[in-house]
Amino acid sequence: MQRTSAMTSVQPDWENFYPRPISEKIPFFSKDGRLYDCLFAQQFNRELLNHLFETANKLKTVTHRKDGADHVSSLLSDKRAMLYFVQPSTRTFMSFLNACHIMGIKTSEIRDTTTSSEVKGETPEDTVRTFSSYVDMIIMRHPAPGFVEKTAWLMNRTGRPVPIVNGGSGKDQHPTQALLDVYTLYRSFAGEIDNKHIVMVGDLKRGRTVRSLSYLMKSYKGIKLSFVSPKEFRMESDILDFLRRHDIPFTETEDFRGVMKTADAIYMTRIQDEHDKSGESKAVDYSPFHFRQEHLKEIKKTCVIMHPLPRRHEIELSVDDDPRAVFWRQERNGMWARAALMAYIFGVDKKL
Ligand code: NCD
Repeated sequence: MQRTSAMTSVQPDWENFYPRPISEKIPFFSKDGRLYDCLFAQQFNRELLNHLFETANKLKTVTHRKDGADHVSSLLSDKRAMLYFVQPSTRTFMSFLNACHIMGIKTSEIRDTTTSSEVKGETPEDTVRTFSSYVDMIIMRHPAPGFVEKTAWLMNRTGRPVPIVNGGSGKDQHPTQALLDVYTLYRSFAGEIDNKHIVMVGDLKRGRTVRSLSYLMKSYKGIKLSFVSPKEFRMESDILDFLRRHDIPFTETEDFRGVMKTADAIYMTRIQDEHDKSGESKAVDYSPFHFRQEHLKEIKKTCVIMHPLPRRHEIELSVDDDPRAVFWRQERNGMWARAALMAYIFGVDKKL
């Protein structure tokens, strides 16, 4: 496979490659000017986002009828994908699996390293290289930040690369979640995402979804962000620096009630206590960062309430019945957005 990237000839080692700015690394994960490995939210720009959203819309409509669904599931029926999800996942796994089925991609899965040769001492890198011998795409969720990227980097240096899609890497990135989140905004606001006030709430420090979603905001004009979190779990400075560099105004506050009134979208998240080192989450009162029934009368009539799920108590169950609660729709949008991404990566998006 011919790479268009200048970096291929340089062949830096991983220790040199990994710390580079994402903007420099993107060409290495592209092919013929198109996204090839989907690793970082920064790989999406407005044009690509719009294209993927229109593709997802088309997929939704076309597959409504059996002949349409049969056509779509023939487009990639020669492809096989491996789902390597070695971190807990329900919806992202199911979403990718069903996105593959929509496109006719055959799937295999590993969800637990104890059933793989890693227990015989094989390095995870060799294990994923083994997968690539059998399949045409690897979709990965991994607890270690950088591992998914390293897999793509290794693959691209072999004679038989396959695209790698990041289904969540540590507390770092979750690009396809950001894709479906923005697709949900796109559908909720009839394509008009510019000039919106988006409020992200919860554990912003360790939540990868809010990090990836923040990166995507650079594709839109006039966005205003409010970050609402306990002081222990404020958004990390790398994201705040990114927003400053791209002139995206943001505020940080603990006063949820104060900012919800002007919100166009409220993005709730749970506390990410699986990343605790010594039970630090228990010391935090998370209740001010819950969305309750009584808040419904405070927010705009057009405001949407989102959540990447799973939820604990941060959205009261009775809120689900309000038409502004779009998180179940958001979950379903994920399957279509991911199917659109696969159609794009394998170049059959024009055949819809
Ligand atoms: C999120 C994740 O795994 O980062 N879930 C998801 O992919 N839908 C959010 C979370 O676990 O809180």
